[in-house]
Amino acid sequence: MAENRENWGSKLGLILAMAGNAIGLGNFWRFPYQVAENGGGAFMLPYFAALLVLGIPLMYVEWMQGRYGGKYGHGTVGCMTYLQAKEKLGHSSAAIIGALVGMLVFSVTTLVNSYYTQIIGWTLGYSYLSLIGGYMDTARSTGEVFASYIQNPGMSITFWVIALALLAFALSRGVQKGIEAWAKIMMPLLYVLGFILIIRALTLGSPVNPDWSPIKGLDYLWSPKWNELNWQSALAAAGQIFFTLSLGMGIIQNYASYLKPDEDIVLSATTTVFLNEFAEVILGGSIAIPIAFTFLGPEGIESGVGLSFIALPNVFRMMPGGQFFGAFWFLVLFFAGFTSAIAMYNYLIAMLEEDLNLPRKAGAVIVFSFYILVGLPTALEPYLTKTAELVFLTELDNWVGNYFLVVVGLIEALVVGWLFGEKKALEELNRGGYWKVSSAFFNFMIKFITPLSIAILLVFSTRSYIKDG
Ligand code: PHE
Repeated sequence: MAENRENWGSKLGLILAMAGNAIGLGNFWRFPYQVAENGGGAFMLPYFAALLVLGIPLMYVEWMQGRYGGKYGHGTVGCMTYLQAKEKLGHSSAAIIGALVGMLVFSVTTLVNSYYTQIIGWTLGYSYLSLIGGYMDTARSTGEVFASYIQNPGMSITFWVIALALLAFALSRGVQKGIEAWAKIMMPLLYVLGFILIIRALTLGSPVNPDWSPIKGLDYLWSPKWNELNWQSALAAAGQIFFTLSLGMGIIQNYASYLKPDEDIVLSATTTVFLNEFAEVILGGSIAIPIAFTFLGPEGIESGVGLSFIALPNVFRMMPGGQFFGAFWFLVLFFAGFTSAIAMYNYLIAMLEEDLNLPRKAGAVIVFSFYILVGLPTALEPYLTKTAELVFLTELDNWVGNYFLVVVGLIEALVVGWLFGEKKALEELNRGGYWKVSSAFFNFMIKFITPLSIAILLVFSTRSYIKDG
């Protein structure tokens, strides 16, 4: 089996695919409102701390696990965990941990995709609406337009199914012709459109209030509100790091399993992190917020989950050329979401290919049907409840981001740090590397600090969650 496995076609393709995996709706849709809701600039302190202590070490761990698994023909994290725990624990205990991680990751992927593909559908639908001027008519508020969009299955379900069908098509073509080819088109476009939008955002003048300049909007976001910082916001910061880097999902490992056995890991993984953080903090942080602020003031920033789909269209309809900038914005979101969804989709296909020996094309069709099934509740929620509150979706998103991913990350650090062990882990991590990870980093960070910080976060935030309800 291992001989027939595909590899990445080129370094550029690998990096763009990995960046596409990490850069997603998390960067453009989730990050801005997480910052706004968790203390503005104060959020950035736990955010960067989590990047250094959790994000980067776990990124190395996941790339290493993946390339190691790939050597044995395995692309799923359950199998990798088994392989890495086996020597210390023996076959049956390792199999139990492997199965546990496998099931956890499968549940997370399912949960995430029960709303993630939905939002990708909205971004596609809204790109289309932008181009045809679908929310330009000021007779209805953009909140009403959004409510009627998600409550109208003719629109929302159609675009959702189109997005899923495109995904199935991309995935049926395999690693090089599918994943890599789409990343090579979509990622550069994302950066180009992102830059155009930043320039537009930062050169806007407010027609409403001369005080609402885009720079003030950035300032509003970045000035720390220290009193809003607590364990919950620290967990939210850690959760955002996991979410945005695609950690704790098995999908980094899956992509890394297509690496050649002596291809560099540390530098490539660090590059991916850098590309993602650039797209999150710079693009994700400096487009939506200043645009919303210039036209709508502080209220615009605080519009939470609806920032992308309600506050911004409201601005696009007032802005010269708004139809095009609107289309650019939603296309950026679409490209970001799509290339991440490809990674999650491929994870499920790898399970079917490797555990059930199904051909890739059949896998693509099965996952398509599975996504339709698990996505129906969120697809129909606004229609059935006749509201646009999306309570179910928001709750799912909180649980996934703040708990599930973090728990998987904890298990990974423990398995690699304590069961697989320093010698083997460093050998795998550093083989063929331009940069190398030191033994001190492994023994200090990966073995202790990373798992310990996750454990502390989980305990304290659960306590304050129970206390505050
Ligand atoms: N990292 C991607 C994002 O930011 C994809 C992802 C989504 C990863 C959900 C984990 C969970 O959107």
